[in-house]
Order: sequence, then structure tokens, then C-alpha cells
Amino acid sequence: MPTSTTTLRFNDRVDSMQPSATLAMKSRAEERRRQGHPVVALSAGEPDFDTPEPIADAGMDAIRNGFTNYTENPGTMELREAICRKFDRDNDLSYTPEHVVCSNGAKQSLALAIHALCDEGDEVIVPAPYWVSYPEMARFSGAEPVVVPTSVDEKYRLRPAALEEAITERTQILVLCSPSNPTGAVYAPRELEALAEVLRSHEQVFVVSDEIYEHVIYDAEHRAFASIPGMKDRTITVNGFSKAFAMTGWRLGYMAAPEPIAQAAAKIQGQFTSAPCSISQKAGVAALEMDPEPVHEMVASFRRRRDVVLERLRDIDGLRCPTPEGAFYLYPDVSSFLGAEAPDGSIIGDSSDLCFYLLEEHNVALVPGTAFGAPNGLRLSYASSMEDLETALDRIEAGLSALR
Ligand SMILES: Cc1ncc(COP(=O)(O)O)c(C=O)c1O
Repeated sequence: MPTSTTTLRFNDRVDSMQPSATLAMKSRAEERRRQGHPVVALSAGEPDFDTPEPIADAGMDAIRNGFTNYTENPGTMELREAICRKFDRDNDLSYTPEHVVCSNGAKQSLALAIHALCDEGDEVIVPAPYWVSYPEMARFSGAEPVVVPTSVDEKYRLRPAALEEAITERTQILVLCSPSNPTGAVYAPRELEALAEVLRSHEQVFVVSDEIYEHVIYDAEHRAFASIPGMKDRTITVNGFSKAFAMTGWRLGYMAAPEPIAQAAAKIQGQFTSAPCSISQKAGVAALEMDPEPVHEMVASFRRRRDVVLERLRDIDGLRCPTPEGAFYLYPDVSSFLGAEAPDGSIIGDSSDLCFYLLEEHNVALVPGTAFGAPNGLRLSYASSMEDLETALDRIEAGLSALR
């Protein structure tokens, strides 16, 4: 058994994998807090609400009633049927439980979909700014992520011409995320139609559509990509409970996919993790069937905070930020601050330097755009109290105005 790191040999794919930058920022902020610094963290990717009561009650009932055994590998029939009703009700999509696989969070669903479909040498198109895990999952499956930049002027949406240009005969998957983490951008139905039009002439390309922020949406309409004519047979829709129902710790997500893909994903799951937690599955059924009022209240609260933060950011000279229509993130473009000098004489070379400067000197934790493949921006999560948001914005303003 090797004991030193010089003799310890890892799988090459593990060695080349980047650790999650959002988690790294979170732990650095926590470390500074432990050292006594009054850090305000706007780096979290989770709602600052408790899980609504009917959901928590269903979980507790499951424990009390002894619903604590392994369930069927792709999830209970009860939960998969509830998910099919949700697709029918919310997305006008008709699925049967055979198309659905429930997993330990949408993150696992995404990993399963990518691993089920990708082989060595395949390409996965990932529009940037992207959620941090997509390229790593693609790489881990042996595929190559093909990052396609979008711009602040395009409100961070992939344009059909850019998609057309990125597709090659090796393209296996296009990953879409709407509403988006990290930008909050939402594709309008006609924009999705235009992307689908490009895909119609490239039949080999599947779409992994991450719709986990579906219900965290403001002035826009969510359209499931699979509901666009011709797209259902080539789309894997991933969704979950973490965001809309404030259930991040319950670890429950799901995919709906063409049956052979669902079967392949279930096969991987069966050998790696088995079904998700039985208690969470009972809670998931309650979430899908409860009166959605608590979700609406949470979204209304996010909207108020978005408006306050956006107004303050727009008052800062040099920041540009499109209005996000969903999720709970803002992604301001900070390029006008790159190359600036901090009061200690150090140069802010990229958004990572900027975030570390704001954390170390001004006690605000944000996530640098380098983590999202779009280094001219940074991500600010407004899933925090209004008081913390105001404090953080005072500090961001002070920190940026001290740069020369
Ligand atoms: C875009 C996106 N997809 C998937 C996930 C994973 O969610 P889950 O908690 O269900 O694994 C997240 C969580 O941050 C996310 O932001």
C-alpha cells in the first residue's frame, strides 16, 4: 500500500479533473469566517429557505412508517408516476415511468446521461458561461467538451449560427441550461425553436436539457426543450427538487429520456449508487403534489432581491449586467476592472484575482467567471437576506472604487 503522494497513482481522468470552484470558494469563505472575519457569502447555489412543511412532513412520515428500505433502482413507481404527471401538467409532455430515472440529485442525473451517451472522442457542446460540472462530466466520460462562448450583448444565450458552427460529425450532445446557472438567462420559446431548427439537420446530436430552475423564473416563460416538435426523441430532460422546493440536502433529481437511454442510465446507477434515498422519494411525491404557494412566495422573494441588487450593480461605473429572468444569480461583466491595480499594488489580472481581492480585502465571497468558462464575469448569488445583500453591495462598491 503506497503511503506517500509520490507513489500514489490515480486514474488519469481523476487526475485531470478540476475540483468544483464554487465549492472551493465556499470553503475559503468559511475558513475566513472561522478566523473571525465578517464574511458575507454571495457564492452559494442554494435557496436560503427551509423545505416547505408538507414536504418535510412526508419525509418524517416515511421514517415513522418504516419506509426506509432500498426502493426500485430507477425510483419508486409512485414517484415516477408523479413525475410523469408533472411533465404532463407543466410541460405538455407525455412520458411513462419507463422513461424516468430518479437519482441522488440532478447532478447525478446529468452525469448518468452524459456517461450513458458519450464515448472516447465524442464532443459535447457546452455554451459558456456554463454550470461548472458539465465540462468535467464530459471529460470524465472520455468525451471532449467544446465550449461555445456567448456574450453579455447576447444576454448569454447561444445563437443558432454559433451552434451550427460548433457541430461536427463527432458531436454527441448539446447541453442547454435554462433558466441558467450562472447567468439567470432564460431562452424564449422562439429561441429554442431556432436552436432546434439547427439540430434538425444534425440527427446524431442529443440534447441534455437541464431545467432544474424551471420554477424559479420571473418575467419569462419556461419551455421544455423536449416539447419542441421533433425534439422529444433526442432530448434528455434533467430536473430536480433542490432549487424550486429548497431541498438541496435531500439529494433528489430525475431525468426523462427516450426509453433505451433511461435504461442505460439506470444500469449505471444500479452498479454505482442504486436508487436515491427512500425518504426523499416520499418527500418528492409530496413536493410535486402540494399546493405550490410556498414555491410562489419564495420566487417572489427572489424577484424582490434581484431587483434591488440589479439596481445597485447598475449604479457602479464599469459593470454591465443583463437582467436575469430566472434562477437566483447575476452575472455582471467585470472586464473594465481587469488589469486594474489594487491598493496593495497587486494587479487584478482576471476575475479570479478580483474575487480573491474582494474576499480578502472586503469580506465578500463571489464566484469568479473563470470557473464558468467566461472569465470576464463573475457570479453573484442573491439567495441571501436583504440585509446581507445590502452589506455585500456596499463592500463591492467600495472594493471596486478603490481599484486604479
Ligand atoms: C444548473 C444546475 N444543474 C444541476 C444542479 C444540481 O442540482 P442537485 O442538487 O439536484 O444535484 C445544480 C446545482 O447547483 C445546478 O445549478
